[in-house]
Order: sequence, then C-alpha cells, then structure tokens
Amino acid sequence: MNKKITAAITAVGGFVPEDKLTNADLEKMVDTNDEWIRTRTGISERRILKGEGLATSDMVVPAVKQLCEKRGISPDEIDCLIVGTVTPDMVFPATANIACDKLGIKNAFSFDVSAACSGFLYTLTLGAALIESGRYKKVVVCGADKMSAIVDYTDRATCIIFGDGAGAVLLEPNEEGYGVLDSILRSDGSGSQYLHMKAGGSKKPASIETVLAKEHFAYQDGQPVFKFAVKGMADVSAELLEKNNLTGDDIAWLVPHQANLRIIDATANRMGLPREKVMINIQKYGNTTAGTIPLCLWEWESQLKKGDNIVLAAFGGGFTWGATLVKWAY
Ligand code: UT7
Repeated sequence: MNKKITAAITAVGGFVPEDKLTNADLEKMVDTNDEWIRTRTGISERRILKGEGLATSDMVVPAVKQLCEKRGISPDEIDCLIVGTVTPDMVFPATANIACDKLGIKNAFSFDVSAACSGFLYTLTLGAALIESGRYKKVVVCGADKMSAIVDYTDRATCIIFGDGAGAVLLEPNEEGYGVLDSILRSDGSGSQYLHMKAGGSKKPASIETVLAKEHFAYQDGQPVFKFAVKGMADVSAELLEKNNLTGDDIAWLVPHQANLRIIDATANRMGLPREKVMINIQKYGNTTAGTIPLCLWEWESQLKKGDNIVLAAFGGGFTWGATLVKWAY
C-alpha cells in the first residue's frame, strides 16, 4: 500500500531590507513616542525597502534564492511558486509571475494569494495540498509585503505598526509523517470595514480625488481589529490543538503573526504556552503582514529540531485567520 504523502518544509529563506525605521524616527514624523509604541505594540523598529522601482518581488527573489542554495537545488527545479501578498508589484500580473522571471524559473506555474496577514498560512495550506496530490515535487510558498508602499506616514495609529519583509519555505513530499499535518483556515468579509484600502480597485478606481483623499493607503480601525484578532487567533489555535488531541505541552513552538505583542501573549496564554516557546521578533521588524510567520521560521531555523510540533497562527485583513500544525522535518 502506498504511504500517505505529507508536505515537509525542507528549507527556509528570508529577506529584510537594510534600512531601519526606529521609534525615534517616527517621533519626528508623527505625534507619538517610543514608550507608547513599545508598551501598546511591542515594536522598537521596522525595516523599510528603499530604492527607486524596488517592489515586493525584489524581496521574494533573495528569499527564494537563499532557500534554493540551502537545499542545493536550482530555482528552475521548482514546480510552483505561490506568493501571499497585499502589496503586489502591480495589480496584475501576479508578483509570483514577476519573481519567477527574475529567478529564471521557466517550468513552473505561479500565482498570488490575497489573504493579508494570513497570506502565508493560506499559501502554505494550498502548497501542501499540491504536494499531497502527488502531482508536484517542489512547491515554494512565500509571504511578502512592502507595507511601506501603502502606509500613510501621517497616520500615527497605523504607521507605527508596519514594516517590509519576505520569507519563503520549500515544500517537498514526505512519507514519514513530517510536514504540514493540519490546518484550520477561516475568512469573514464582513470584517473588511475595519481594515482595507478604499480606492484603486474596481469599486473605486484611482482618480485625482482618491489620491487627494489618501484612499490608496491601508485604513485600519485598530480597536475592533484588535478585539477580533485576540479572539480569532486564540480560538482557532485552541481548536487546532483539540482537533489533534494535543495540549500546550506537546507543542515545541508557537509561531504567531507579529501584529501586536498583546495579541501574541493572549494566544500563547490560551494555548498554555510559556513565552520561551513563542517566536517573537516584532520588536525588530514590526508587522510585515504576510512576511511575519516565515520570517520567524527563518530566524529560528537553527533552533528547530526534527519532530518538533509547531503551531503557526495568524489573523488579519479580510478578516482572514487560521492555525496550521507542522511537524518539523530536519
Ligand atoms: O496585522 C493585521 C491585523 N492588525 C492588527 O492585529 C492590529 C490590531 N490593533 C492594534 O494592534 C491596536 O489597536 C493599535 C496598536 C493599532 C492601537 O493600539 P490601541 O491600544 O488599540 O490604541 P487606541 O487606538 O485605542 O488608542 C488609544 C489612545 C488614543 O488616545 P485617547 O483617545 O485615549 O486620548 C489614541 O489617539 O492612544 C492614542 N494613540 C497614540 N498615541 C501615541 C493612537 N496611536 C498613537 C500613537 N502614539 N502612535
């Protein structure tokens, strides 16, 4: 009998731009202060992609190159590349298409997924399903956002949170039970009123008026998003544990979306996990939207052990949210 195929993560790549935007820098731009930002969000600094014409694909490319080097494969061996992003290079074509061209990937199909902060969990779940089908052998899933392109740096309530970055993982078939084991994903479009971009889509195409009204920036009503995020991320993570007959003791790491340290703490508490088991780098990178979770995996890769159970959890625009259980493969 054929053994069940699971999608193992076999390499991780990441990229953060060099330029830093610190809380001290923001104090000079808007009416805010370091103490407020650190206590309300946990953030001290973020990375910003600077340079004429540089876009989200320019962060995807080094992240994917890095994971290919680590795994010793040529980018052209990749069967499919999926990019989770809400800051694509252009409305169309897909950033994944552009990244493939820059990487010299010729024999693959590629597409973007729009699921905001849950973008990486959505792409990971989709990529895993492609591997499990038996039809594809090497699928790369990325979370990447150049949030600085859609942040209004006069709006103190949102500009303090976001930063730029990209992370990517390679998925390959495994017959020993390692990899993506389960995933619970949800969406609720009624939450769009709290977190969205007003113009530039088919509902309100770009015009001089939309530019003057600053409608091409991310709009966020922070408090309701915060409340939904705390509940959504904690509930779905607890549900995932229960569904798989696991408790916090069975989990080596929680990898939470890095939106606000208070949301991260609430999720960890609900799962019964101490801080030492939670990946947190929000202080350095802020909220890179789809980039946060793979960037944590990238940073903690050397500490992960074969067989570790890890839970990835996210909540974001849409609303979209979810939690994914992974058994680490190396
Ligand atoms: O990743 C996608 C999903 N996004 C999230 O999960 C983000 C969820 N939301 C949040 O993380 C928080 O709501 C924020 C960090 C955005 C805001 O924190 P908050 O604790 O909800 O603050 P608030 O909006 O309730 O504002 C509290 C006070 C207000 O002043 P008053 O009305 O009490 O006098 C704000 O005007 O803080 C003020 N304020 C600021 N003060 C200094 C708001 N932004 C700032 C600021 N610096 N940057």
